[in-house]
Amino acid sequence: MRKTWVLGNWKLNNDSQSIRQWLEDFQQVEVPSNAVVGVAPVSIYSQHVAAHAPQNLLVGSQNVSQFDGGAYTGEVSAAMLSDAKIAFSLVGHSERRMYFGETNEITKDKVNALLQTGIIPVLCCGESQVQYETGKSQSVVESQLRAVLDHVAAEDVAKLVIAYEPVWAIGTGLTATPEYAQQMHQFIRALVAEYSSSASDLPILYGGSCNGSNAKELFAQADIDGGLIGGASLKVSDFNKIIEAAR
Ligand code: 13P
Repeated sequence: MRKTWVLGNWKLNNDSQSIRQWLEDFQQVEVPSNAVVGVAPVSIYSQHVAAHAPQNLLVGSQNVSQFDGGAYTGEVSAAMLSDAKIAFSLVGHSERRMYFGETNEITKDKVNALLQTGIIPVLCCGESQVQYETGKSQSVVESQLRAVLDHVAAEDVAKLVIAYEPVWAIGTGLTATPEYAQQMHQFIRALVAEYSSSASDLPILYGGSCNGSNAKELFAQADIDGGLIGGASLKVSDFNKIIEAAR
């Protein structure tokens, strides 16, 4: 039985004061026994959050360097994240691909850097609006995932979490319908099954305007194992509604 994951991605939001409040508010949250809950703050704050997070909250990173160390100004390595008690890291988020030139090749290297240190890679994929409208969703997601899966050892595939985030649904208030999202998740699981016998255990999360009103229906789909939450993770009251939907 797969658990339901609810991961927050704060993106470029929150500061030390709002984070202190968030952690205080989170003390009231009761994480259901079948749920895994986590949050990815901006990197400068993640070590603080990891040091103060309760047992029931995983702390993640929004990014990781593909390099181990050396002359790479501005980067943070997987080993450093591990040293700071970071449990998971997003990789290949569409905003990284769009604004910071992250290619499938770089994404693949980042996933492997994380796998070497035992940090859970949350591999993001998803089609743009134009690709969606022109019927290319599956082929785009397939090439994003194959670019990584072709270079990950079969036994390591079981250590991945995949997040399907259609770009047209991110921050737009346009959520994919549960039926459409389910279709895509089923497609992703079948694709992963070509690489690993553990595909049926793989958490596949949905992201894109997921909130307290639509989470329950999304999470009820056979192949949707939770959500990667942007805007609705910034306030604990909103985030908790999604955590409750995991029950
Ligand atoms: P929103 O929930 O704000 O649409 O963001 C989704 C996302 O990009 C999470 O990584």
